[in-house]
Amino acid sequence: MSPPRPESQLRTSGSLSRRLTLRLVLSAAFLTLVLFFVVLAFVRDISQRTQDSILLASATSIMDSLRVEAGQITLDIPYAALSMLGNVSNDRVFYNVRKDGEVLTGYEDLPAPSQAPSPGAPSYATEEYRGASLRRVTLARRLSLDGGPADIEITVAQTREGQTAELARLTRWALMMGGGFFLVSALIGIWAAQSSVQPLHALTGVVSRRGPKDLRPVRHAVPSEMAPLVQSLNRFIERLRVSLARSEDFIAEAAHRVRTPLATVRAQAEITLRRVEKAENRASLREMIRAIDESSRAAGQLLDHAMVTFRTDSLERKPVDLDGLARDLVERLRPVADLKDIDLQYSCAGVSPLRGDAILIQNAVRNILDNAIKYAPSETGVLIDVRQGPLDVIISVTDEAGGFPAEEDTAVLTQRFVRGSNAAGTIGSGLGLTIAREVAEAHGGKLVIEPSSTGAGACVSLSFPLR
Ligand SMILES: Nc1ncnc2c1ncn2[C@@H]1O[C@H](COP(=O)(O)OP(=O)(O)O)[C@@H](O)[C@H]1O
Ligand SMILES: [Mg+2]
Repeated sequence: MSPPRPESQLRTSGSLSRRLTLRLVLSAAFLTLVLFFVVLAFVRDISQRTQDSILLASATSIMDSLRVEAGQITLDIPYAALSMLGNVSNDRVFYNVRKDGEVLTGYEDLPAPSQAPSPGAPSYATEEYRGASLRRVTLARRLSLDGGPADIEITVAQTREGQTAELARLTRWALMMGGGFFLVSALIGIWAAQSSVQPLHALTGVVSRRGPKDLRPVRHAVPSEMAPLVQSLNRFIERLRVSLARSEDFIAEAAHRVRTPLATVRAQAEITLRRVEKAENRASLREMIRAIDESSRAAGQLLDHAMVTFRTDSLERKPVDLDGLARDLVERLRPVADLKDIDLQYSCAGVSPLRGDAILIQNAVRNILDNAIKYAPSETGVLIDVRQGPLDVIISVTDEAGGFPAEEDTAVLTQRFVRGSNAAGTIGSGLGLTIAREVAEAHGGKLVIEPSSTGAGACVSLSFPLR
């Protein structure tokens, strides 16, 4: 099995939520700017119009107070005409009245429009006067006097300091409003971006929380945009499920089909060996039997390992009676041990049942026991001990086989197809300890290899947590 690719090696192209957030925040900033300038222009326009209409009202009321008596112009400027301007701001007010371009009353040097406004159409202008900016309105009217028509022009002007101050205040206010608007829309943007990728996170959670063998289709409700993705994922899961089921069937079938004919061939070779007398024929028959043993063992171990890989992926946890299981195995392997005059001793101090897969545990223990018998010289003893620790159940197999090769790392010997230097001449495929370790690890336990207490061999133990 190749190690899973670390997530950092996955190619990513930016982040959806970051991209969305950035766009929403940029749009908010753009809208804020537009809004700010629109509000500013609007406010400026309104304040200008307000000042203009009061200036006009003032000029009109002065115009209305013009009287022609006995062919002479009399002018009595009403108090309200100028005081109404003071209501808006404390700006200075200037005025003058001209008759045919000659100032009758008021400020002489007050700027006049370059072109005389036509009667009824006031002229407005913003001008510099006495070091201040001035807003001015000029009204014109034609009067009939004794000596003929006279053009009367009335100009009323007001400095713009109050207006400028007011505008600055409104600009500050608009800036603050804009800032607030931007902040709120940016927050809404961030929230919207987060909530639009939330279904993706939810789906990731649902899929990654699954056990490794959970091959049910994903039923989690997703937004319609994600439905095609989930559908392809489900199709993929279904294909995987079918293919796994097929492989599992294949392994069981293959184990059966390989072992049976090999056993037959071996039996036939044994029978022939008994009949043949010529030494060289006997030698080659022995060689043949050995090769058959080797291949049937290798095939068996390979298939066992494949089976273990499958079953550990979807570990079923049922109560397992380790005592009964070990006792049964010892009895089954006793004939093999007897062939080498190895004494199998079994001890168990009573253990509580653990939760796990009995087939896997049996396979693991068989491989350890197998090794002990295989690597031990004749007429030695093997002790199988089942006991309970505070948190786990431990089964250990102690042999007198001289121990593991000192120069080799036992962790390496538990890897696939690795055999030790003491394995020369014994049949094996280097998968036994791998199977034992994988089974222990799948149950949350571990495989421990230590020298036996007497130093005559090794003590290999499997521990399974009780949970
Ligand atoms: N009980 C044992 N005593 C000494 N060496 C052992 C024992 N069990 C395993 N080993 C060493 O560990 C190696 C790996 O064991 P294993 O995975 O069962 O493969 P195999 O038995 O097929 O060689 C063996 O080749 C052997 O060198
Ligand atoms: Mg072995």
